[in-house]
Amino acid sequence: MNILVTGGTGYIASHTCIALAEAGHVVTIVDNFSNSNPEVVDRIARITGHYPRLVYGDINDPPFLNELFQKIPLHAVFHFAGKKAVGESMQLPLYYYQNNVTASVVLLDAMQRHGVKTLIFSSSATVYSPADAGGARENMLLAPQNPYGCSKAMVEQILDSVHHADPSWNIVRLRYFNPAGAHPSGRMGESPEGAPQNLMPYLCQIAEGKKTCLPVFGDDYPTRDGTGIRDYVHVMDLASGHVAALDFLNEHGGNHVFNLGSGHGYSVLEMIHAFEKVSGLQIPVQIHARRPGDLAASWADCSKAQNLLKWQVQFGLDEICKDAWKWSRLRELPLAGSTDLKRMPVTVYAPWRH
Ligand SMILES: NC(=O)c1ccc[n+]([C@@H]2O[C@H](COP(=O)([O-])OP(=O)(O)OC[C@H]3O[C@@H](n4cnc5c(N)ncnc54)[C@H](O)[C@@H]3O)[C@@H](O)[C@H]2O)c1
Repeated sequence: MNILVTGGTGYIASHTCIALAEAGHVVTIVDNFSNSNPEVVDRIARITGHYPRLVYGDINDPPFLNELFQKIPLHAVFHFAGKKAVGESMQLPLYYYQNNVTASVVLLDAMQRHGVKTLIFSSSATVYSPADAGGARENMLLAPQNPYGCSKAMVEQILDSVHHADPSWNIVRLRYFNPAGAHPSGRMGESPEGAPQNLMPYLCQIAEGKKTCLPVFGDDYPTRDGTGIRDYVHVMDLASGHVAALDFLNEHGGNHVFNLGSGHGYSVLEMIHAFEKVSGLQIPVQIHARRPGDLAASWADCSKAQNLLKWQVQFGLDEICKDAWKWSRLRELPLAGSTDLKRMPVTVYAPWRH
């Protein structure tokens, strides 16, 4: 299938582009590089042997999207583009609603106008109520606690309405837990712009000597070692979950929601120890007070994805740490491999934006 991947040079999407290419799909990426870099397509090409088409643009731009859908024949859209930092969303709620909700409406409208009605949407575990955070199931009531989580819940609601009005739409919403790790080759991984917001990129920056000490927020939670527990899922497992979701939609159609996590919770200290074990480094830690809004524990019930998508995680905590550590060591090295891969030029359909 010809697939448009919004936010395709971002962390999760770029790994999903690899899984899509390996499943035989043809990928077009659209990204505004607000949190990524066009050189990611060189990495995808070195790993898969093919360059995806890369289009520079902002999805919150109706004329741009209209032109894109006119020029490129598409069968499905994987919609990853969005902002994702809970704390930032509390400071900049309008920016989050604009970039996550309004832009999604613009995208859905363009899809509808051009008859592309298959969508896989990146939702998040933050849509659940904190009371349901341990073993969250898809049919629980949504009660997001911050503008980021609200933006995801709103888009989910919009998707329900779109499907209700026109059941020929095929939609899967994937609620990710805590994506972590990197491609096992070590040639692609997470490169956040600015200060890392998540545990694993922070650990990597300490390992690379870019940070000196890991701040741990709270060691007095009612958990086995006092630190917060989260469900970490390897980014390549997430990627294969997207391919499974597309296969499922192609077979069954409809409007569905699935959790994608590992189904296990690990504490911050357990993650640190696992990373120390694979890297041989000692990570200096500084304990701080709990952050407002942080949960003691959150993990997924993934039985629905296991049963219906026939999806199972392949990688555990060791692989998550091993691959992230490998990426940390290899990221600055020049890319080796075939030099006769032909790079498609970045396509710009919206010259008025420059
Ligand atoms: N990483 C997580 O912990 C996590 C957890 C749950 C859900 N999600 C969701 O998954 C999706 C991908 O997350 P990620 O971790 O890969 O983030 P990311 O920031 O690495 O990727 C997002 C990509 O979207 C692009 N983008 C943002 N706004 C855009 C716009 N208006 N037009 C075009 N491109 C735009 C960015 O440049 C970036 O390349 C996001 O929607 C995020 O909310 C992430």
